[in-house]
Amino acid sequence: MLNIAVLVSGGGTNLQALLDCQARGEIRGVKIACVISCRPYSYALTRARGAGVPTETLVRKSFPDAAAYEDAMLAVLERYTVDLIVLAGFMTIIGEGIIRRYENKIINIHPSLIPSFCGAGFYGLHVHEAALERGVKVTGATVHFVNEVCDGGPIILQKPVLVEDGDTPETLQRRVMEQAEWEILPKAVSLFCEGRLIVDGHHVKIL
Ligand code: GAR
Repeated sequence: MLNIAVLVSGGGTNLQALLDCQARGEIRGVKIACVISCRPYSYALTRARGAGVPTETLVRKSFPDAAAYEDAMLAVLERYTVDLIVLAGFMTIIGEGIIRRYENKIINIHPSLIPSFCGAGFYGLHVHEAALERGVKVTGATVHFVNEVCDGGPIILQKPVLVEDGDTPETLQRRVMEQAEWEILPKAVSLFCEGRLIVDGHHVKIL
């Protein structure tokens, strides 16, 4: 049984997709051991509690510096003997010590087709604003391993989504979630837990 920590900040719809897949038996051999929020009142925490999953809140501003925050995060991860960290809309930088300690064991969902609309400043609704501003016809979502480069780790899965006439950032965000994120994030977690992801440099081979 692998223990997963899901790190969240906001609405938690990707967390919900994972909880639903687990409840339907679509992700096997996995326990969502804890949900960690970087905001005290995120709705994601309500979702976790509703599913009986232990929650932790780690607010960056409550710690004197990044090193102290990282130590606190590591302590929580070790307490739940976490095997895989899933960043599901987590909006605080993950420290390099955690990235090294959990090499190829941290995955992130990003709401665009990387390498478009990613990196510093591209998160949440801003990603969709940028895609609409640029006038792309296709966007989508990406699940990737996390390394020290922001949104630069090896890509696990991607799924395209069409932009429609009259889209607003909000309508596009919702379609990308519904048609891509809620599908590929649980799928990537499932592949990881089945031991079917092999990382070779920038490439991820799916067995
Ligand atoms: C999702 O769209 C996720 O892809 C995005 O934040 C949203 C969280 O929604 N993540 C990023 O932008 C990371 N760069 P949720 O809380 O409803 O899952």
